[in-house]
Amino acid sequence: MSRFHLLEHPLIQHKLTILRDKDTGVKEFRESVGEIAMLMCYEATRDLPLEEVDVTTPVAGARGHAIAGKKIAVVPVLRAGLGMTDGIVRLIPTARVGHIGLYRDPDTLQPVEYYCKMPPDIGERDVLILDPMLATGGTAVAASRILKNFGCRSLKRMCILAAPEGLQAMQSAHPDVDIYACALDERLHEHGYIVPGLGDAGDRIFGTK
Ligand code: URA
Repeated sequence: MSRFHLLEHPLIQHKLTILRDKDTGVKEFRESVGEIAMLMCYEATRDLPLEEVDVTTPVAGARGHAIAGKKIAVVPVLRAGLGMTDGIVRLIPTARVGHIGLYRDPDTLQPVEYYCKMPPDIGERDVLILDPMLATGGTAVAASRILKNFGCRSLKRMCILAAPEGLQAMQSAHPDVDIYACALDERLHEHGYIVPGLGDAGDRIFGTK
């Protein structure tokens, strides 16, 4: 069973409430998504291996630590995942960035891939998949499958909000993928929105509504 990490840090919870507020404007919404992504990245990279290194301070020689050469990729799911990308890349500037575009077919309700561009060595990288909303789980399940088809073996899914339905779908389809979220909300409503949620994340990040 994949691990579900609920990120309850006060700074995250404070900023999440700003996102939930219907009166928060585009600028503050976008900035808060980026800041939450940075704070989530801090939690999701806790297990990165370190190696000891020598360093010379202005006073003396010392032993320090450096990330032990882990190769990381960040993969936002278009389009709302883009809002989380900068925050992560600021903390991990050597990360490569892939993109996945998925839409839901209105007849079958199945996710359909319309865009996919990955770094050439994606299969060797630890991958952070970014998408702020884990709702039905359809897109999340498809994105993880696409990355596994590229040979990826180390996947973490970062979402700001999760619904029980999406969490269950991911845990049954991809029990090896760890999931990071800032809250597990009550449910989905009939149009697939998370309740209470924060509305349409893409529209609020990009100001398209
Ligand atoms: N996608 C969103 O942007 N919001 C939801 O509540 C569910 C899916």
